[in-house]
Amino acid sequence: MKSVGEIMRIGPVIPVLTLESVEQCEQVVHALYEGGVRVLEITLRTAVGLKAIEHASKFASDIVVGVGTITTTTQVKEAKRAGATFGVSPGLTHALHAAAKDIDLPLLPGVMTPSDILRALSLGYDTVKFFPAQQAGGLDMLRAFSGPFPTLQFCPTGGITQESVRSFLDLPNVICVGGSWLTPTAAIISQNWGEVTRLAHAASQLARLNT
Ligand code: 3PG
Repeated sequence: MKSVGEIMRIGPVIPVLTLESVEQCEQVVHALYEGGVRVLEITLRTAVGLKAIEHASKFASDIVVGVGTITTTTQVKEAKRAGATFGVSPGLTHALHAAAKDIDLPLLPGVMTPSDILRALSLGYDTVKFFPAQQAGGLDMLRAFSGPFPTLQFCPTGGITQESVRSFLDLPNVICVGGSWLTPTAAIISQNWGEVTRLAHAASQLARLNT
């Protein structure tokens, strides 16, 4: 089993996918793969989320598929059964931590405040999601976190764009970045898979300060 830190080092950007159908899942994942993506997150925000994880983890065996937007312990178990290799949650509770630990699902928990971070550190996490990154202070907040929490690594997610991703990856406490900008709604609706591959390629090529 890979650790969260190892999974976060697979690529500089983790695409966050919210899918409408299993067919769409296949097309989107294929386009991202063509662009060099080898790790991604499928959220449970739509009814097809679990089915998409199950499908993607079978047909895209070269890609590490995680589950996103985990908010309940039931989802932790269902996602692991569906084939998710790691989980991402917008926040952290003891119950989520215990459920993920219990079934060996590496968890990237969300934090937004110093108190959230203290809870994550006390539960043994060395890598967390900073969410919603842009809205919660962006680059300045991450720089401020590096003072009291010098060893903690962040995957900022939320509000990050193709234009801003570079500056996030340039921070020493950023291990990778998450976001949905690689799969714009307009490109998905018009089935412009070339555009998804182009955005994925640009993201996959990004260097990070922290490797
Ligand atoms: C998430 O689910 O982690 C974020 O909502 C993704 O944020 P974005 O859509 O602003 O990239």
